[in-house]
Amino acid sequence: MLIKKPNDIKSSEITPPELYLNRRQFIKSASATTLSAGAALAGFDLFQPAPQAYALAKLPDVKKSSYSTTEKQNSLKDITSYNNFYELGVDKGDPARNAKYLTTRPWTVAIEGEVKKPKTYDIDDIMKLAPLEERIYRLRCVEAWSMVIPWIGFPLSALINQVEPTGNAKFIQFVTLLDPKRMPGQQRSLFGNVLDWPYVEGLRMDEAMHPLTILSVGLYSEVLPSQNGAPVRLVVPWKYGFKSIKSIVKVRFVEKQPATAWSLQTPSEYGFYSNVNPEVDHPRWSQATERRIGEFLRRKTLMFNGYGDQVASLYKGMDLRKLY
Ligand code: MTE
Repeated sequence: MLIKKPNDIKSSEITPPELYLNRRQFIKSASATTLSAGAALAGFDLFQPAPQAYALAKLPDVKKSSYSTTEKQNSLKDITSYNNFYELGVDKGDPARNAKYLTTRPWTVAIEGEVKKPKTYDIDDIMKLAPLEERIYRLRCVEAWSMVIPWIGFPLSALINQVEPTGNAKFIQFVTLLDPKRMPGQQRSLFGNVLDWPYVEGLRMDEAMHPLTILSVGLYSEVLPSQNGAPVRLVVPWKYGFKSIKSIVKVRFVEKQPATAWSLQTPSEYGFYSNVNPEVDHPRWSQATERRIGEFLRRKTLMFNGYGDQVASLYKGMDLRKLY
């Protein structure tokens, strides 16, 4: 990643609590505005203080899940003000500041490739694909910080089963929205070539079908804030956070291992699997420990981010030092 000192949160990046206590209508504004490129450029809040966060709609009928950790959850403020979302800026506070540009209605997700029933879903139909569950997962970022996040979503397998993959479907590629108006970080004039847009990610079919893998549409009982990847993102808790691609518009079923954004950018540092592994250091820093946001002392990083009992069998016989 681009971050040189993963352990530091600048105090300037932390949104004051009163802003979170005064949250306003989000959904209405989300459906209303489309910004012109010029307006987005002129108004892009690179250096402004964090804005008021938006009031998000409550998600009803959310079931608890036995896959949740009982560890202490990070606060809503931590989760929504310390983000990696390069389409909305490169600093941790930028995604919250620029979330207003990412309008999420209308929004469709196209399912393509090796499936018997290709289909373009409206986001409101995606939300109804399966009963919503709260999944409290650890998220371990490759930059060696972590959080515990109460996601709301449903198993990705529910979507996969609907579209009926063919026998040729060995992998899935996910694609983020490409729209420099709604994602000002994609304007090369502002940030140069941070990544080759759109952001893409991929999973092997058995990883995608695993019951821990979810599509998330919310957190803390509310619809997903834009800075966390609204309206729908992937969450794969045993992999480094960058596999959990945000703001998905396309899901492609493919035969060959697909390209992924960070391994396209720096293939020597980021592999396809990216399983959390304290024994394989990043070329520029150790992965042995992590800082849980909000804690002072570092923790030991756990193999597969602590989900080894559930997922280690997926990688039996693989050399995870080479296939990182
Ligand atoms: N998805 C997109 N499209 N763009 C991004 O920059 N950042 C990734 C991942 N998904 C990213 C993305 C990284 S590096 C991490 S650690 C997680 O999102 C952070 O998720 P969070 O901000 O909700 O904690």
